Amino acid sequence: MDIHRIIVCTLCRDLVTGIRSGEGLCTDLRARLAAHYEPAVAKGFAVEGVACMAGCSRPLTVGFQAPGKAAYLFGSIDAQADAGDLVRFAKLYASLADGWCNSGQRPAGLAGKTLARIPARIPGCPTTGRP
Ligand code: FES
Repeated sequence: MDIHRIIVCTLCRDLVTGIRSGEGLCTDLRARLAAHYEPAVAKGFAVEGVACMAGCSRPLTVGFQAPGKAAYLFGSIDAQADAGDLVRFAKLYASLADGWCNSGQRPAGLAGKTLARIPARIPGCPTTGRP
């Protein structure tokens, strides 16, 4: 019952080393979710690699998405240093009914790395979403 997706770019290259670390981060995130969280949380996530999320100037990019929840795109992610904070964010994200949170609620290590926070729907007119 994967309802949450963590999407990792597998094409991003580190700006200094040129190394692609997305596949490794996928493996690490799956292991961390399985090891550190109760099955109900860990089983609620699918970790998937994707070729490019148009955040190429801020590698490595990682997205979070779930039905009915705000979506996030993070950039300038260090596959080693930020993996723990991504998993902590995953737990927070799973706990939020609409997925919406402010920068102060997100793990400190992700500060300045949120490229986008897209609401699931805009309150207002159910057809247009406009107030
Ligand atoms: S190559 Fe990773 S976002 Fe484009």
